[in-house]
Amino acid sequence: MKHELVIDSLNDATDRIRVLTLRPGDGGRLPAHTAGAHLDFDLGTLGTRSYSLIDWPGDARPATTWRVAVQREDGGQGGSMQMHRFQPGERIAAAGPANDFELGDHPGPALLLAGGIGITPLISMATALAAAGRPFVLHYAARSRGVMGFAGALTEAFGENVTFHFDDEAPLDLAALFAGVDPATHLYVCGPKPMIEAARAAANAAGLPDAQIHFELFASPQPQEGDSAFEVEVASTGQVFTIPPGRSIIEVLEEGGLDLIHDCQRGDCGICQTEVLEGTPDHRDVVLSDSEKAEGKLMQICVSRAKSAKLVLDL
Ligand code: FES
Repeated sequence: MKHELVIDSLNDATDRIRVLTLRPGDGGRLPAHTAGAHLDFDLGTLGTRSYSLIDWPGDARPATTWRVAVQREDGGQGGSMQMHRFQPGERIAAAGPANDFELGDHPGPALLLAGGIGITPLISMATALAAAGRPFVLHYAARSRGVMGFAGALTEAFGENVTFHFDDEAPLDLAALFAGVDPATHLYVCGPKPMIEAARAAANAAGLPDAQIHFELFASPQPQEGDSAFEVEVASTGQVFTIPPGRSIIEVLEEGGLDLIHDCQRGDCGICQTEVLEGTPDHRDVVLSDSEKAEGKLMQICVSRAKSAKLVLDL
């Protein structure tokens, strides 16, 4: 569902994290959403940017305003800087809410794990779990106290359920975190790719199956040094496309007229997963396991690239 929203107010959580409170542009009602949901903001030529909705205990239900937090990435592609330029009263279009990071209903305890601005969907999850009287703990890691947003509000809202970790003081120790974990625990992790991969490995090592591990990347994929162009052949038609550095397979193929199924465009939902018939993928997602990546038969075409000069995809 598309919405025209008005910037109701702005609050800075840190030097780089700005909270935007949004209200419906037509004065109507906002649809309900569940913890972990996000909005896709239409930033015109910059494309869309997804930000998680933040719910705190005490918020009106159903919500009369929506709240998102945007961390400014000065070296990024401009989306976060554009979001930081909005002023109260300005209008912005957004689609959603959609939820690829559902809390679900299970009897076990929840372990919420956030890295940096990845805290935003987990605030809503902690709020929902606390409201339902379900057991949870929230571990929140950041580089330092100075760059961590919402620490005071989290302590006030969730007390001893929250533990903070600072890289420059006592970094998060995943092995210690998962030592003796209740086997019924569901892990919800949101943060950068290395954190998700490390948390998933530590959780697996502690005996938690993948079915109990839920994750969402907060960062959009960034070009990597050494990225070069490669070709993609569409097996069903024989069409060949060149994917330049800085552009995804999906972007180029859609521009060429193909109708592809995708969602997150970050490499964490698995919707765009495609079979590789020839060539070697360069995996950039957090969906596939290490063994699936090594096998090279599947890839997420929203973020992954190629190690070989050409890929033939089952499209
Ligand atoms: S669209 Fe989500 S993994 Fe590709």
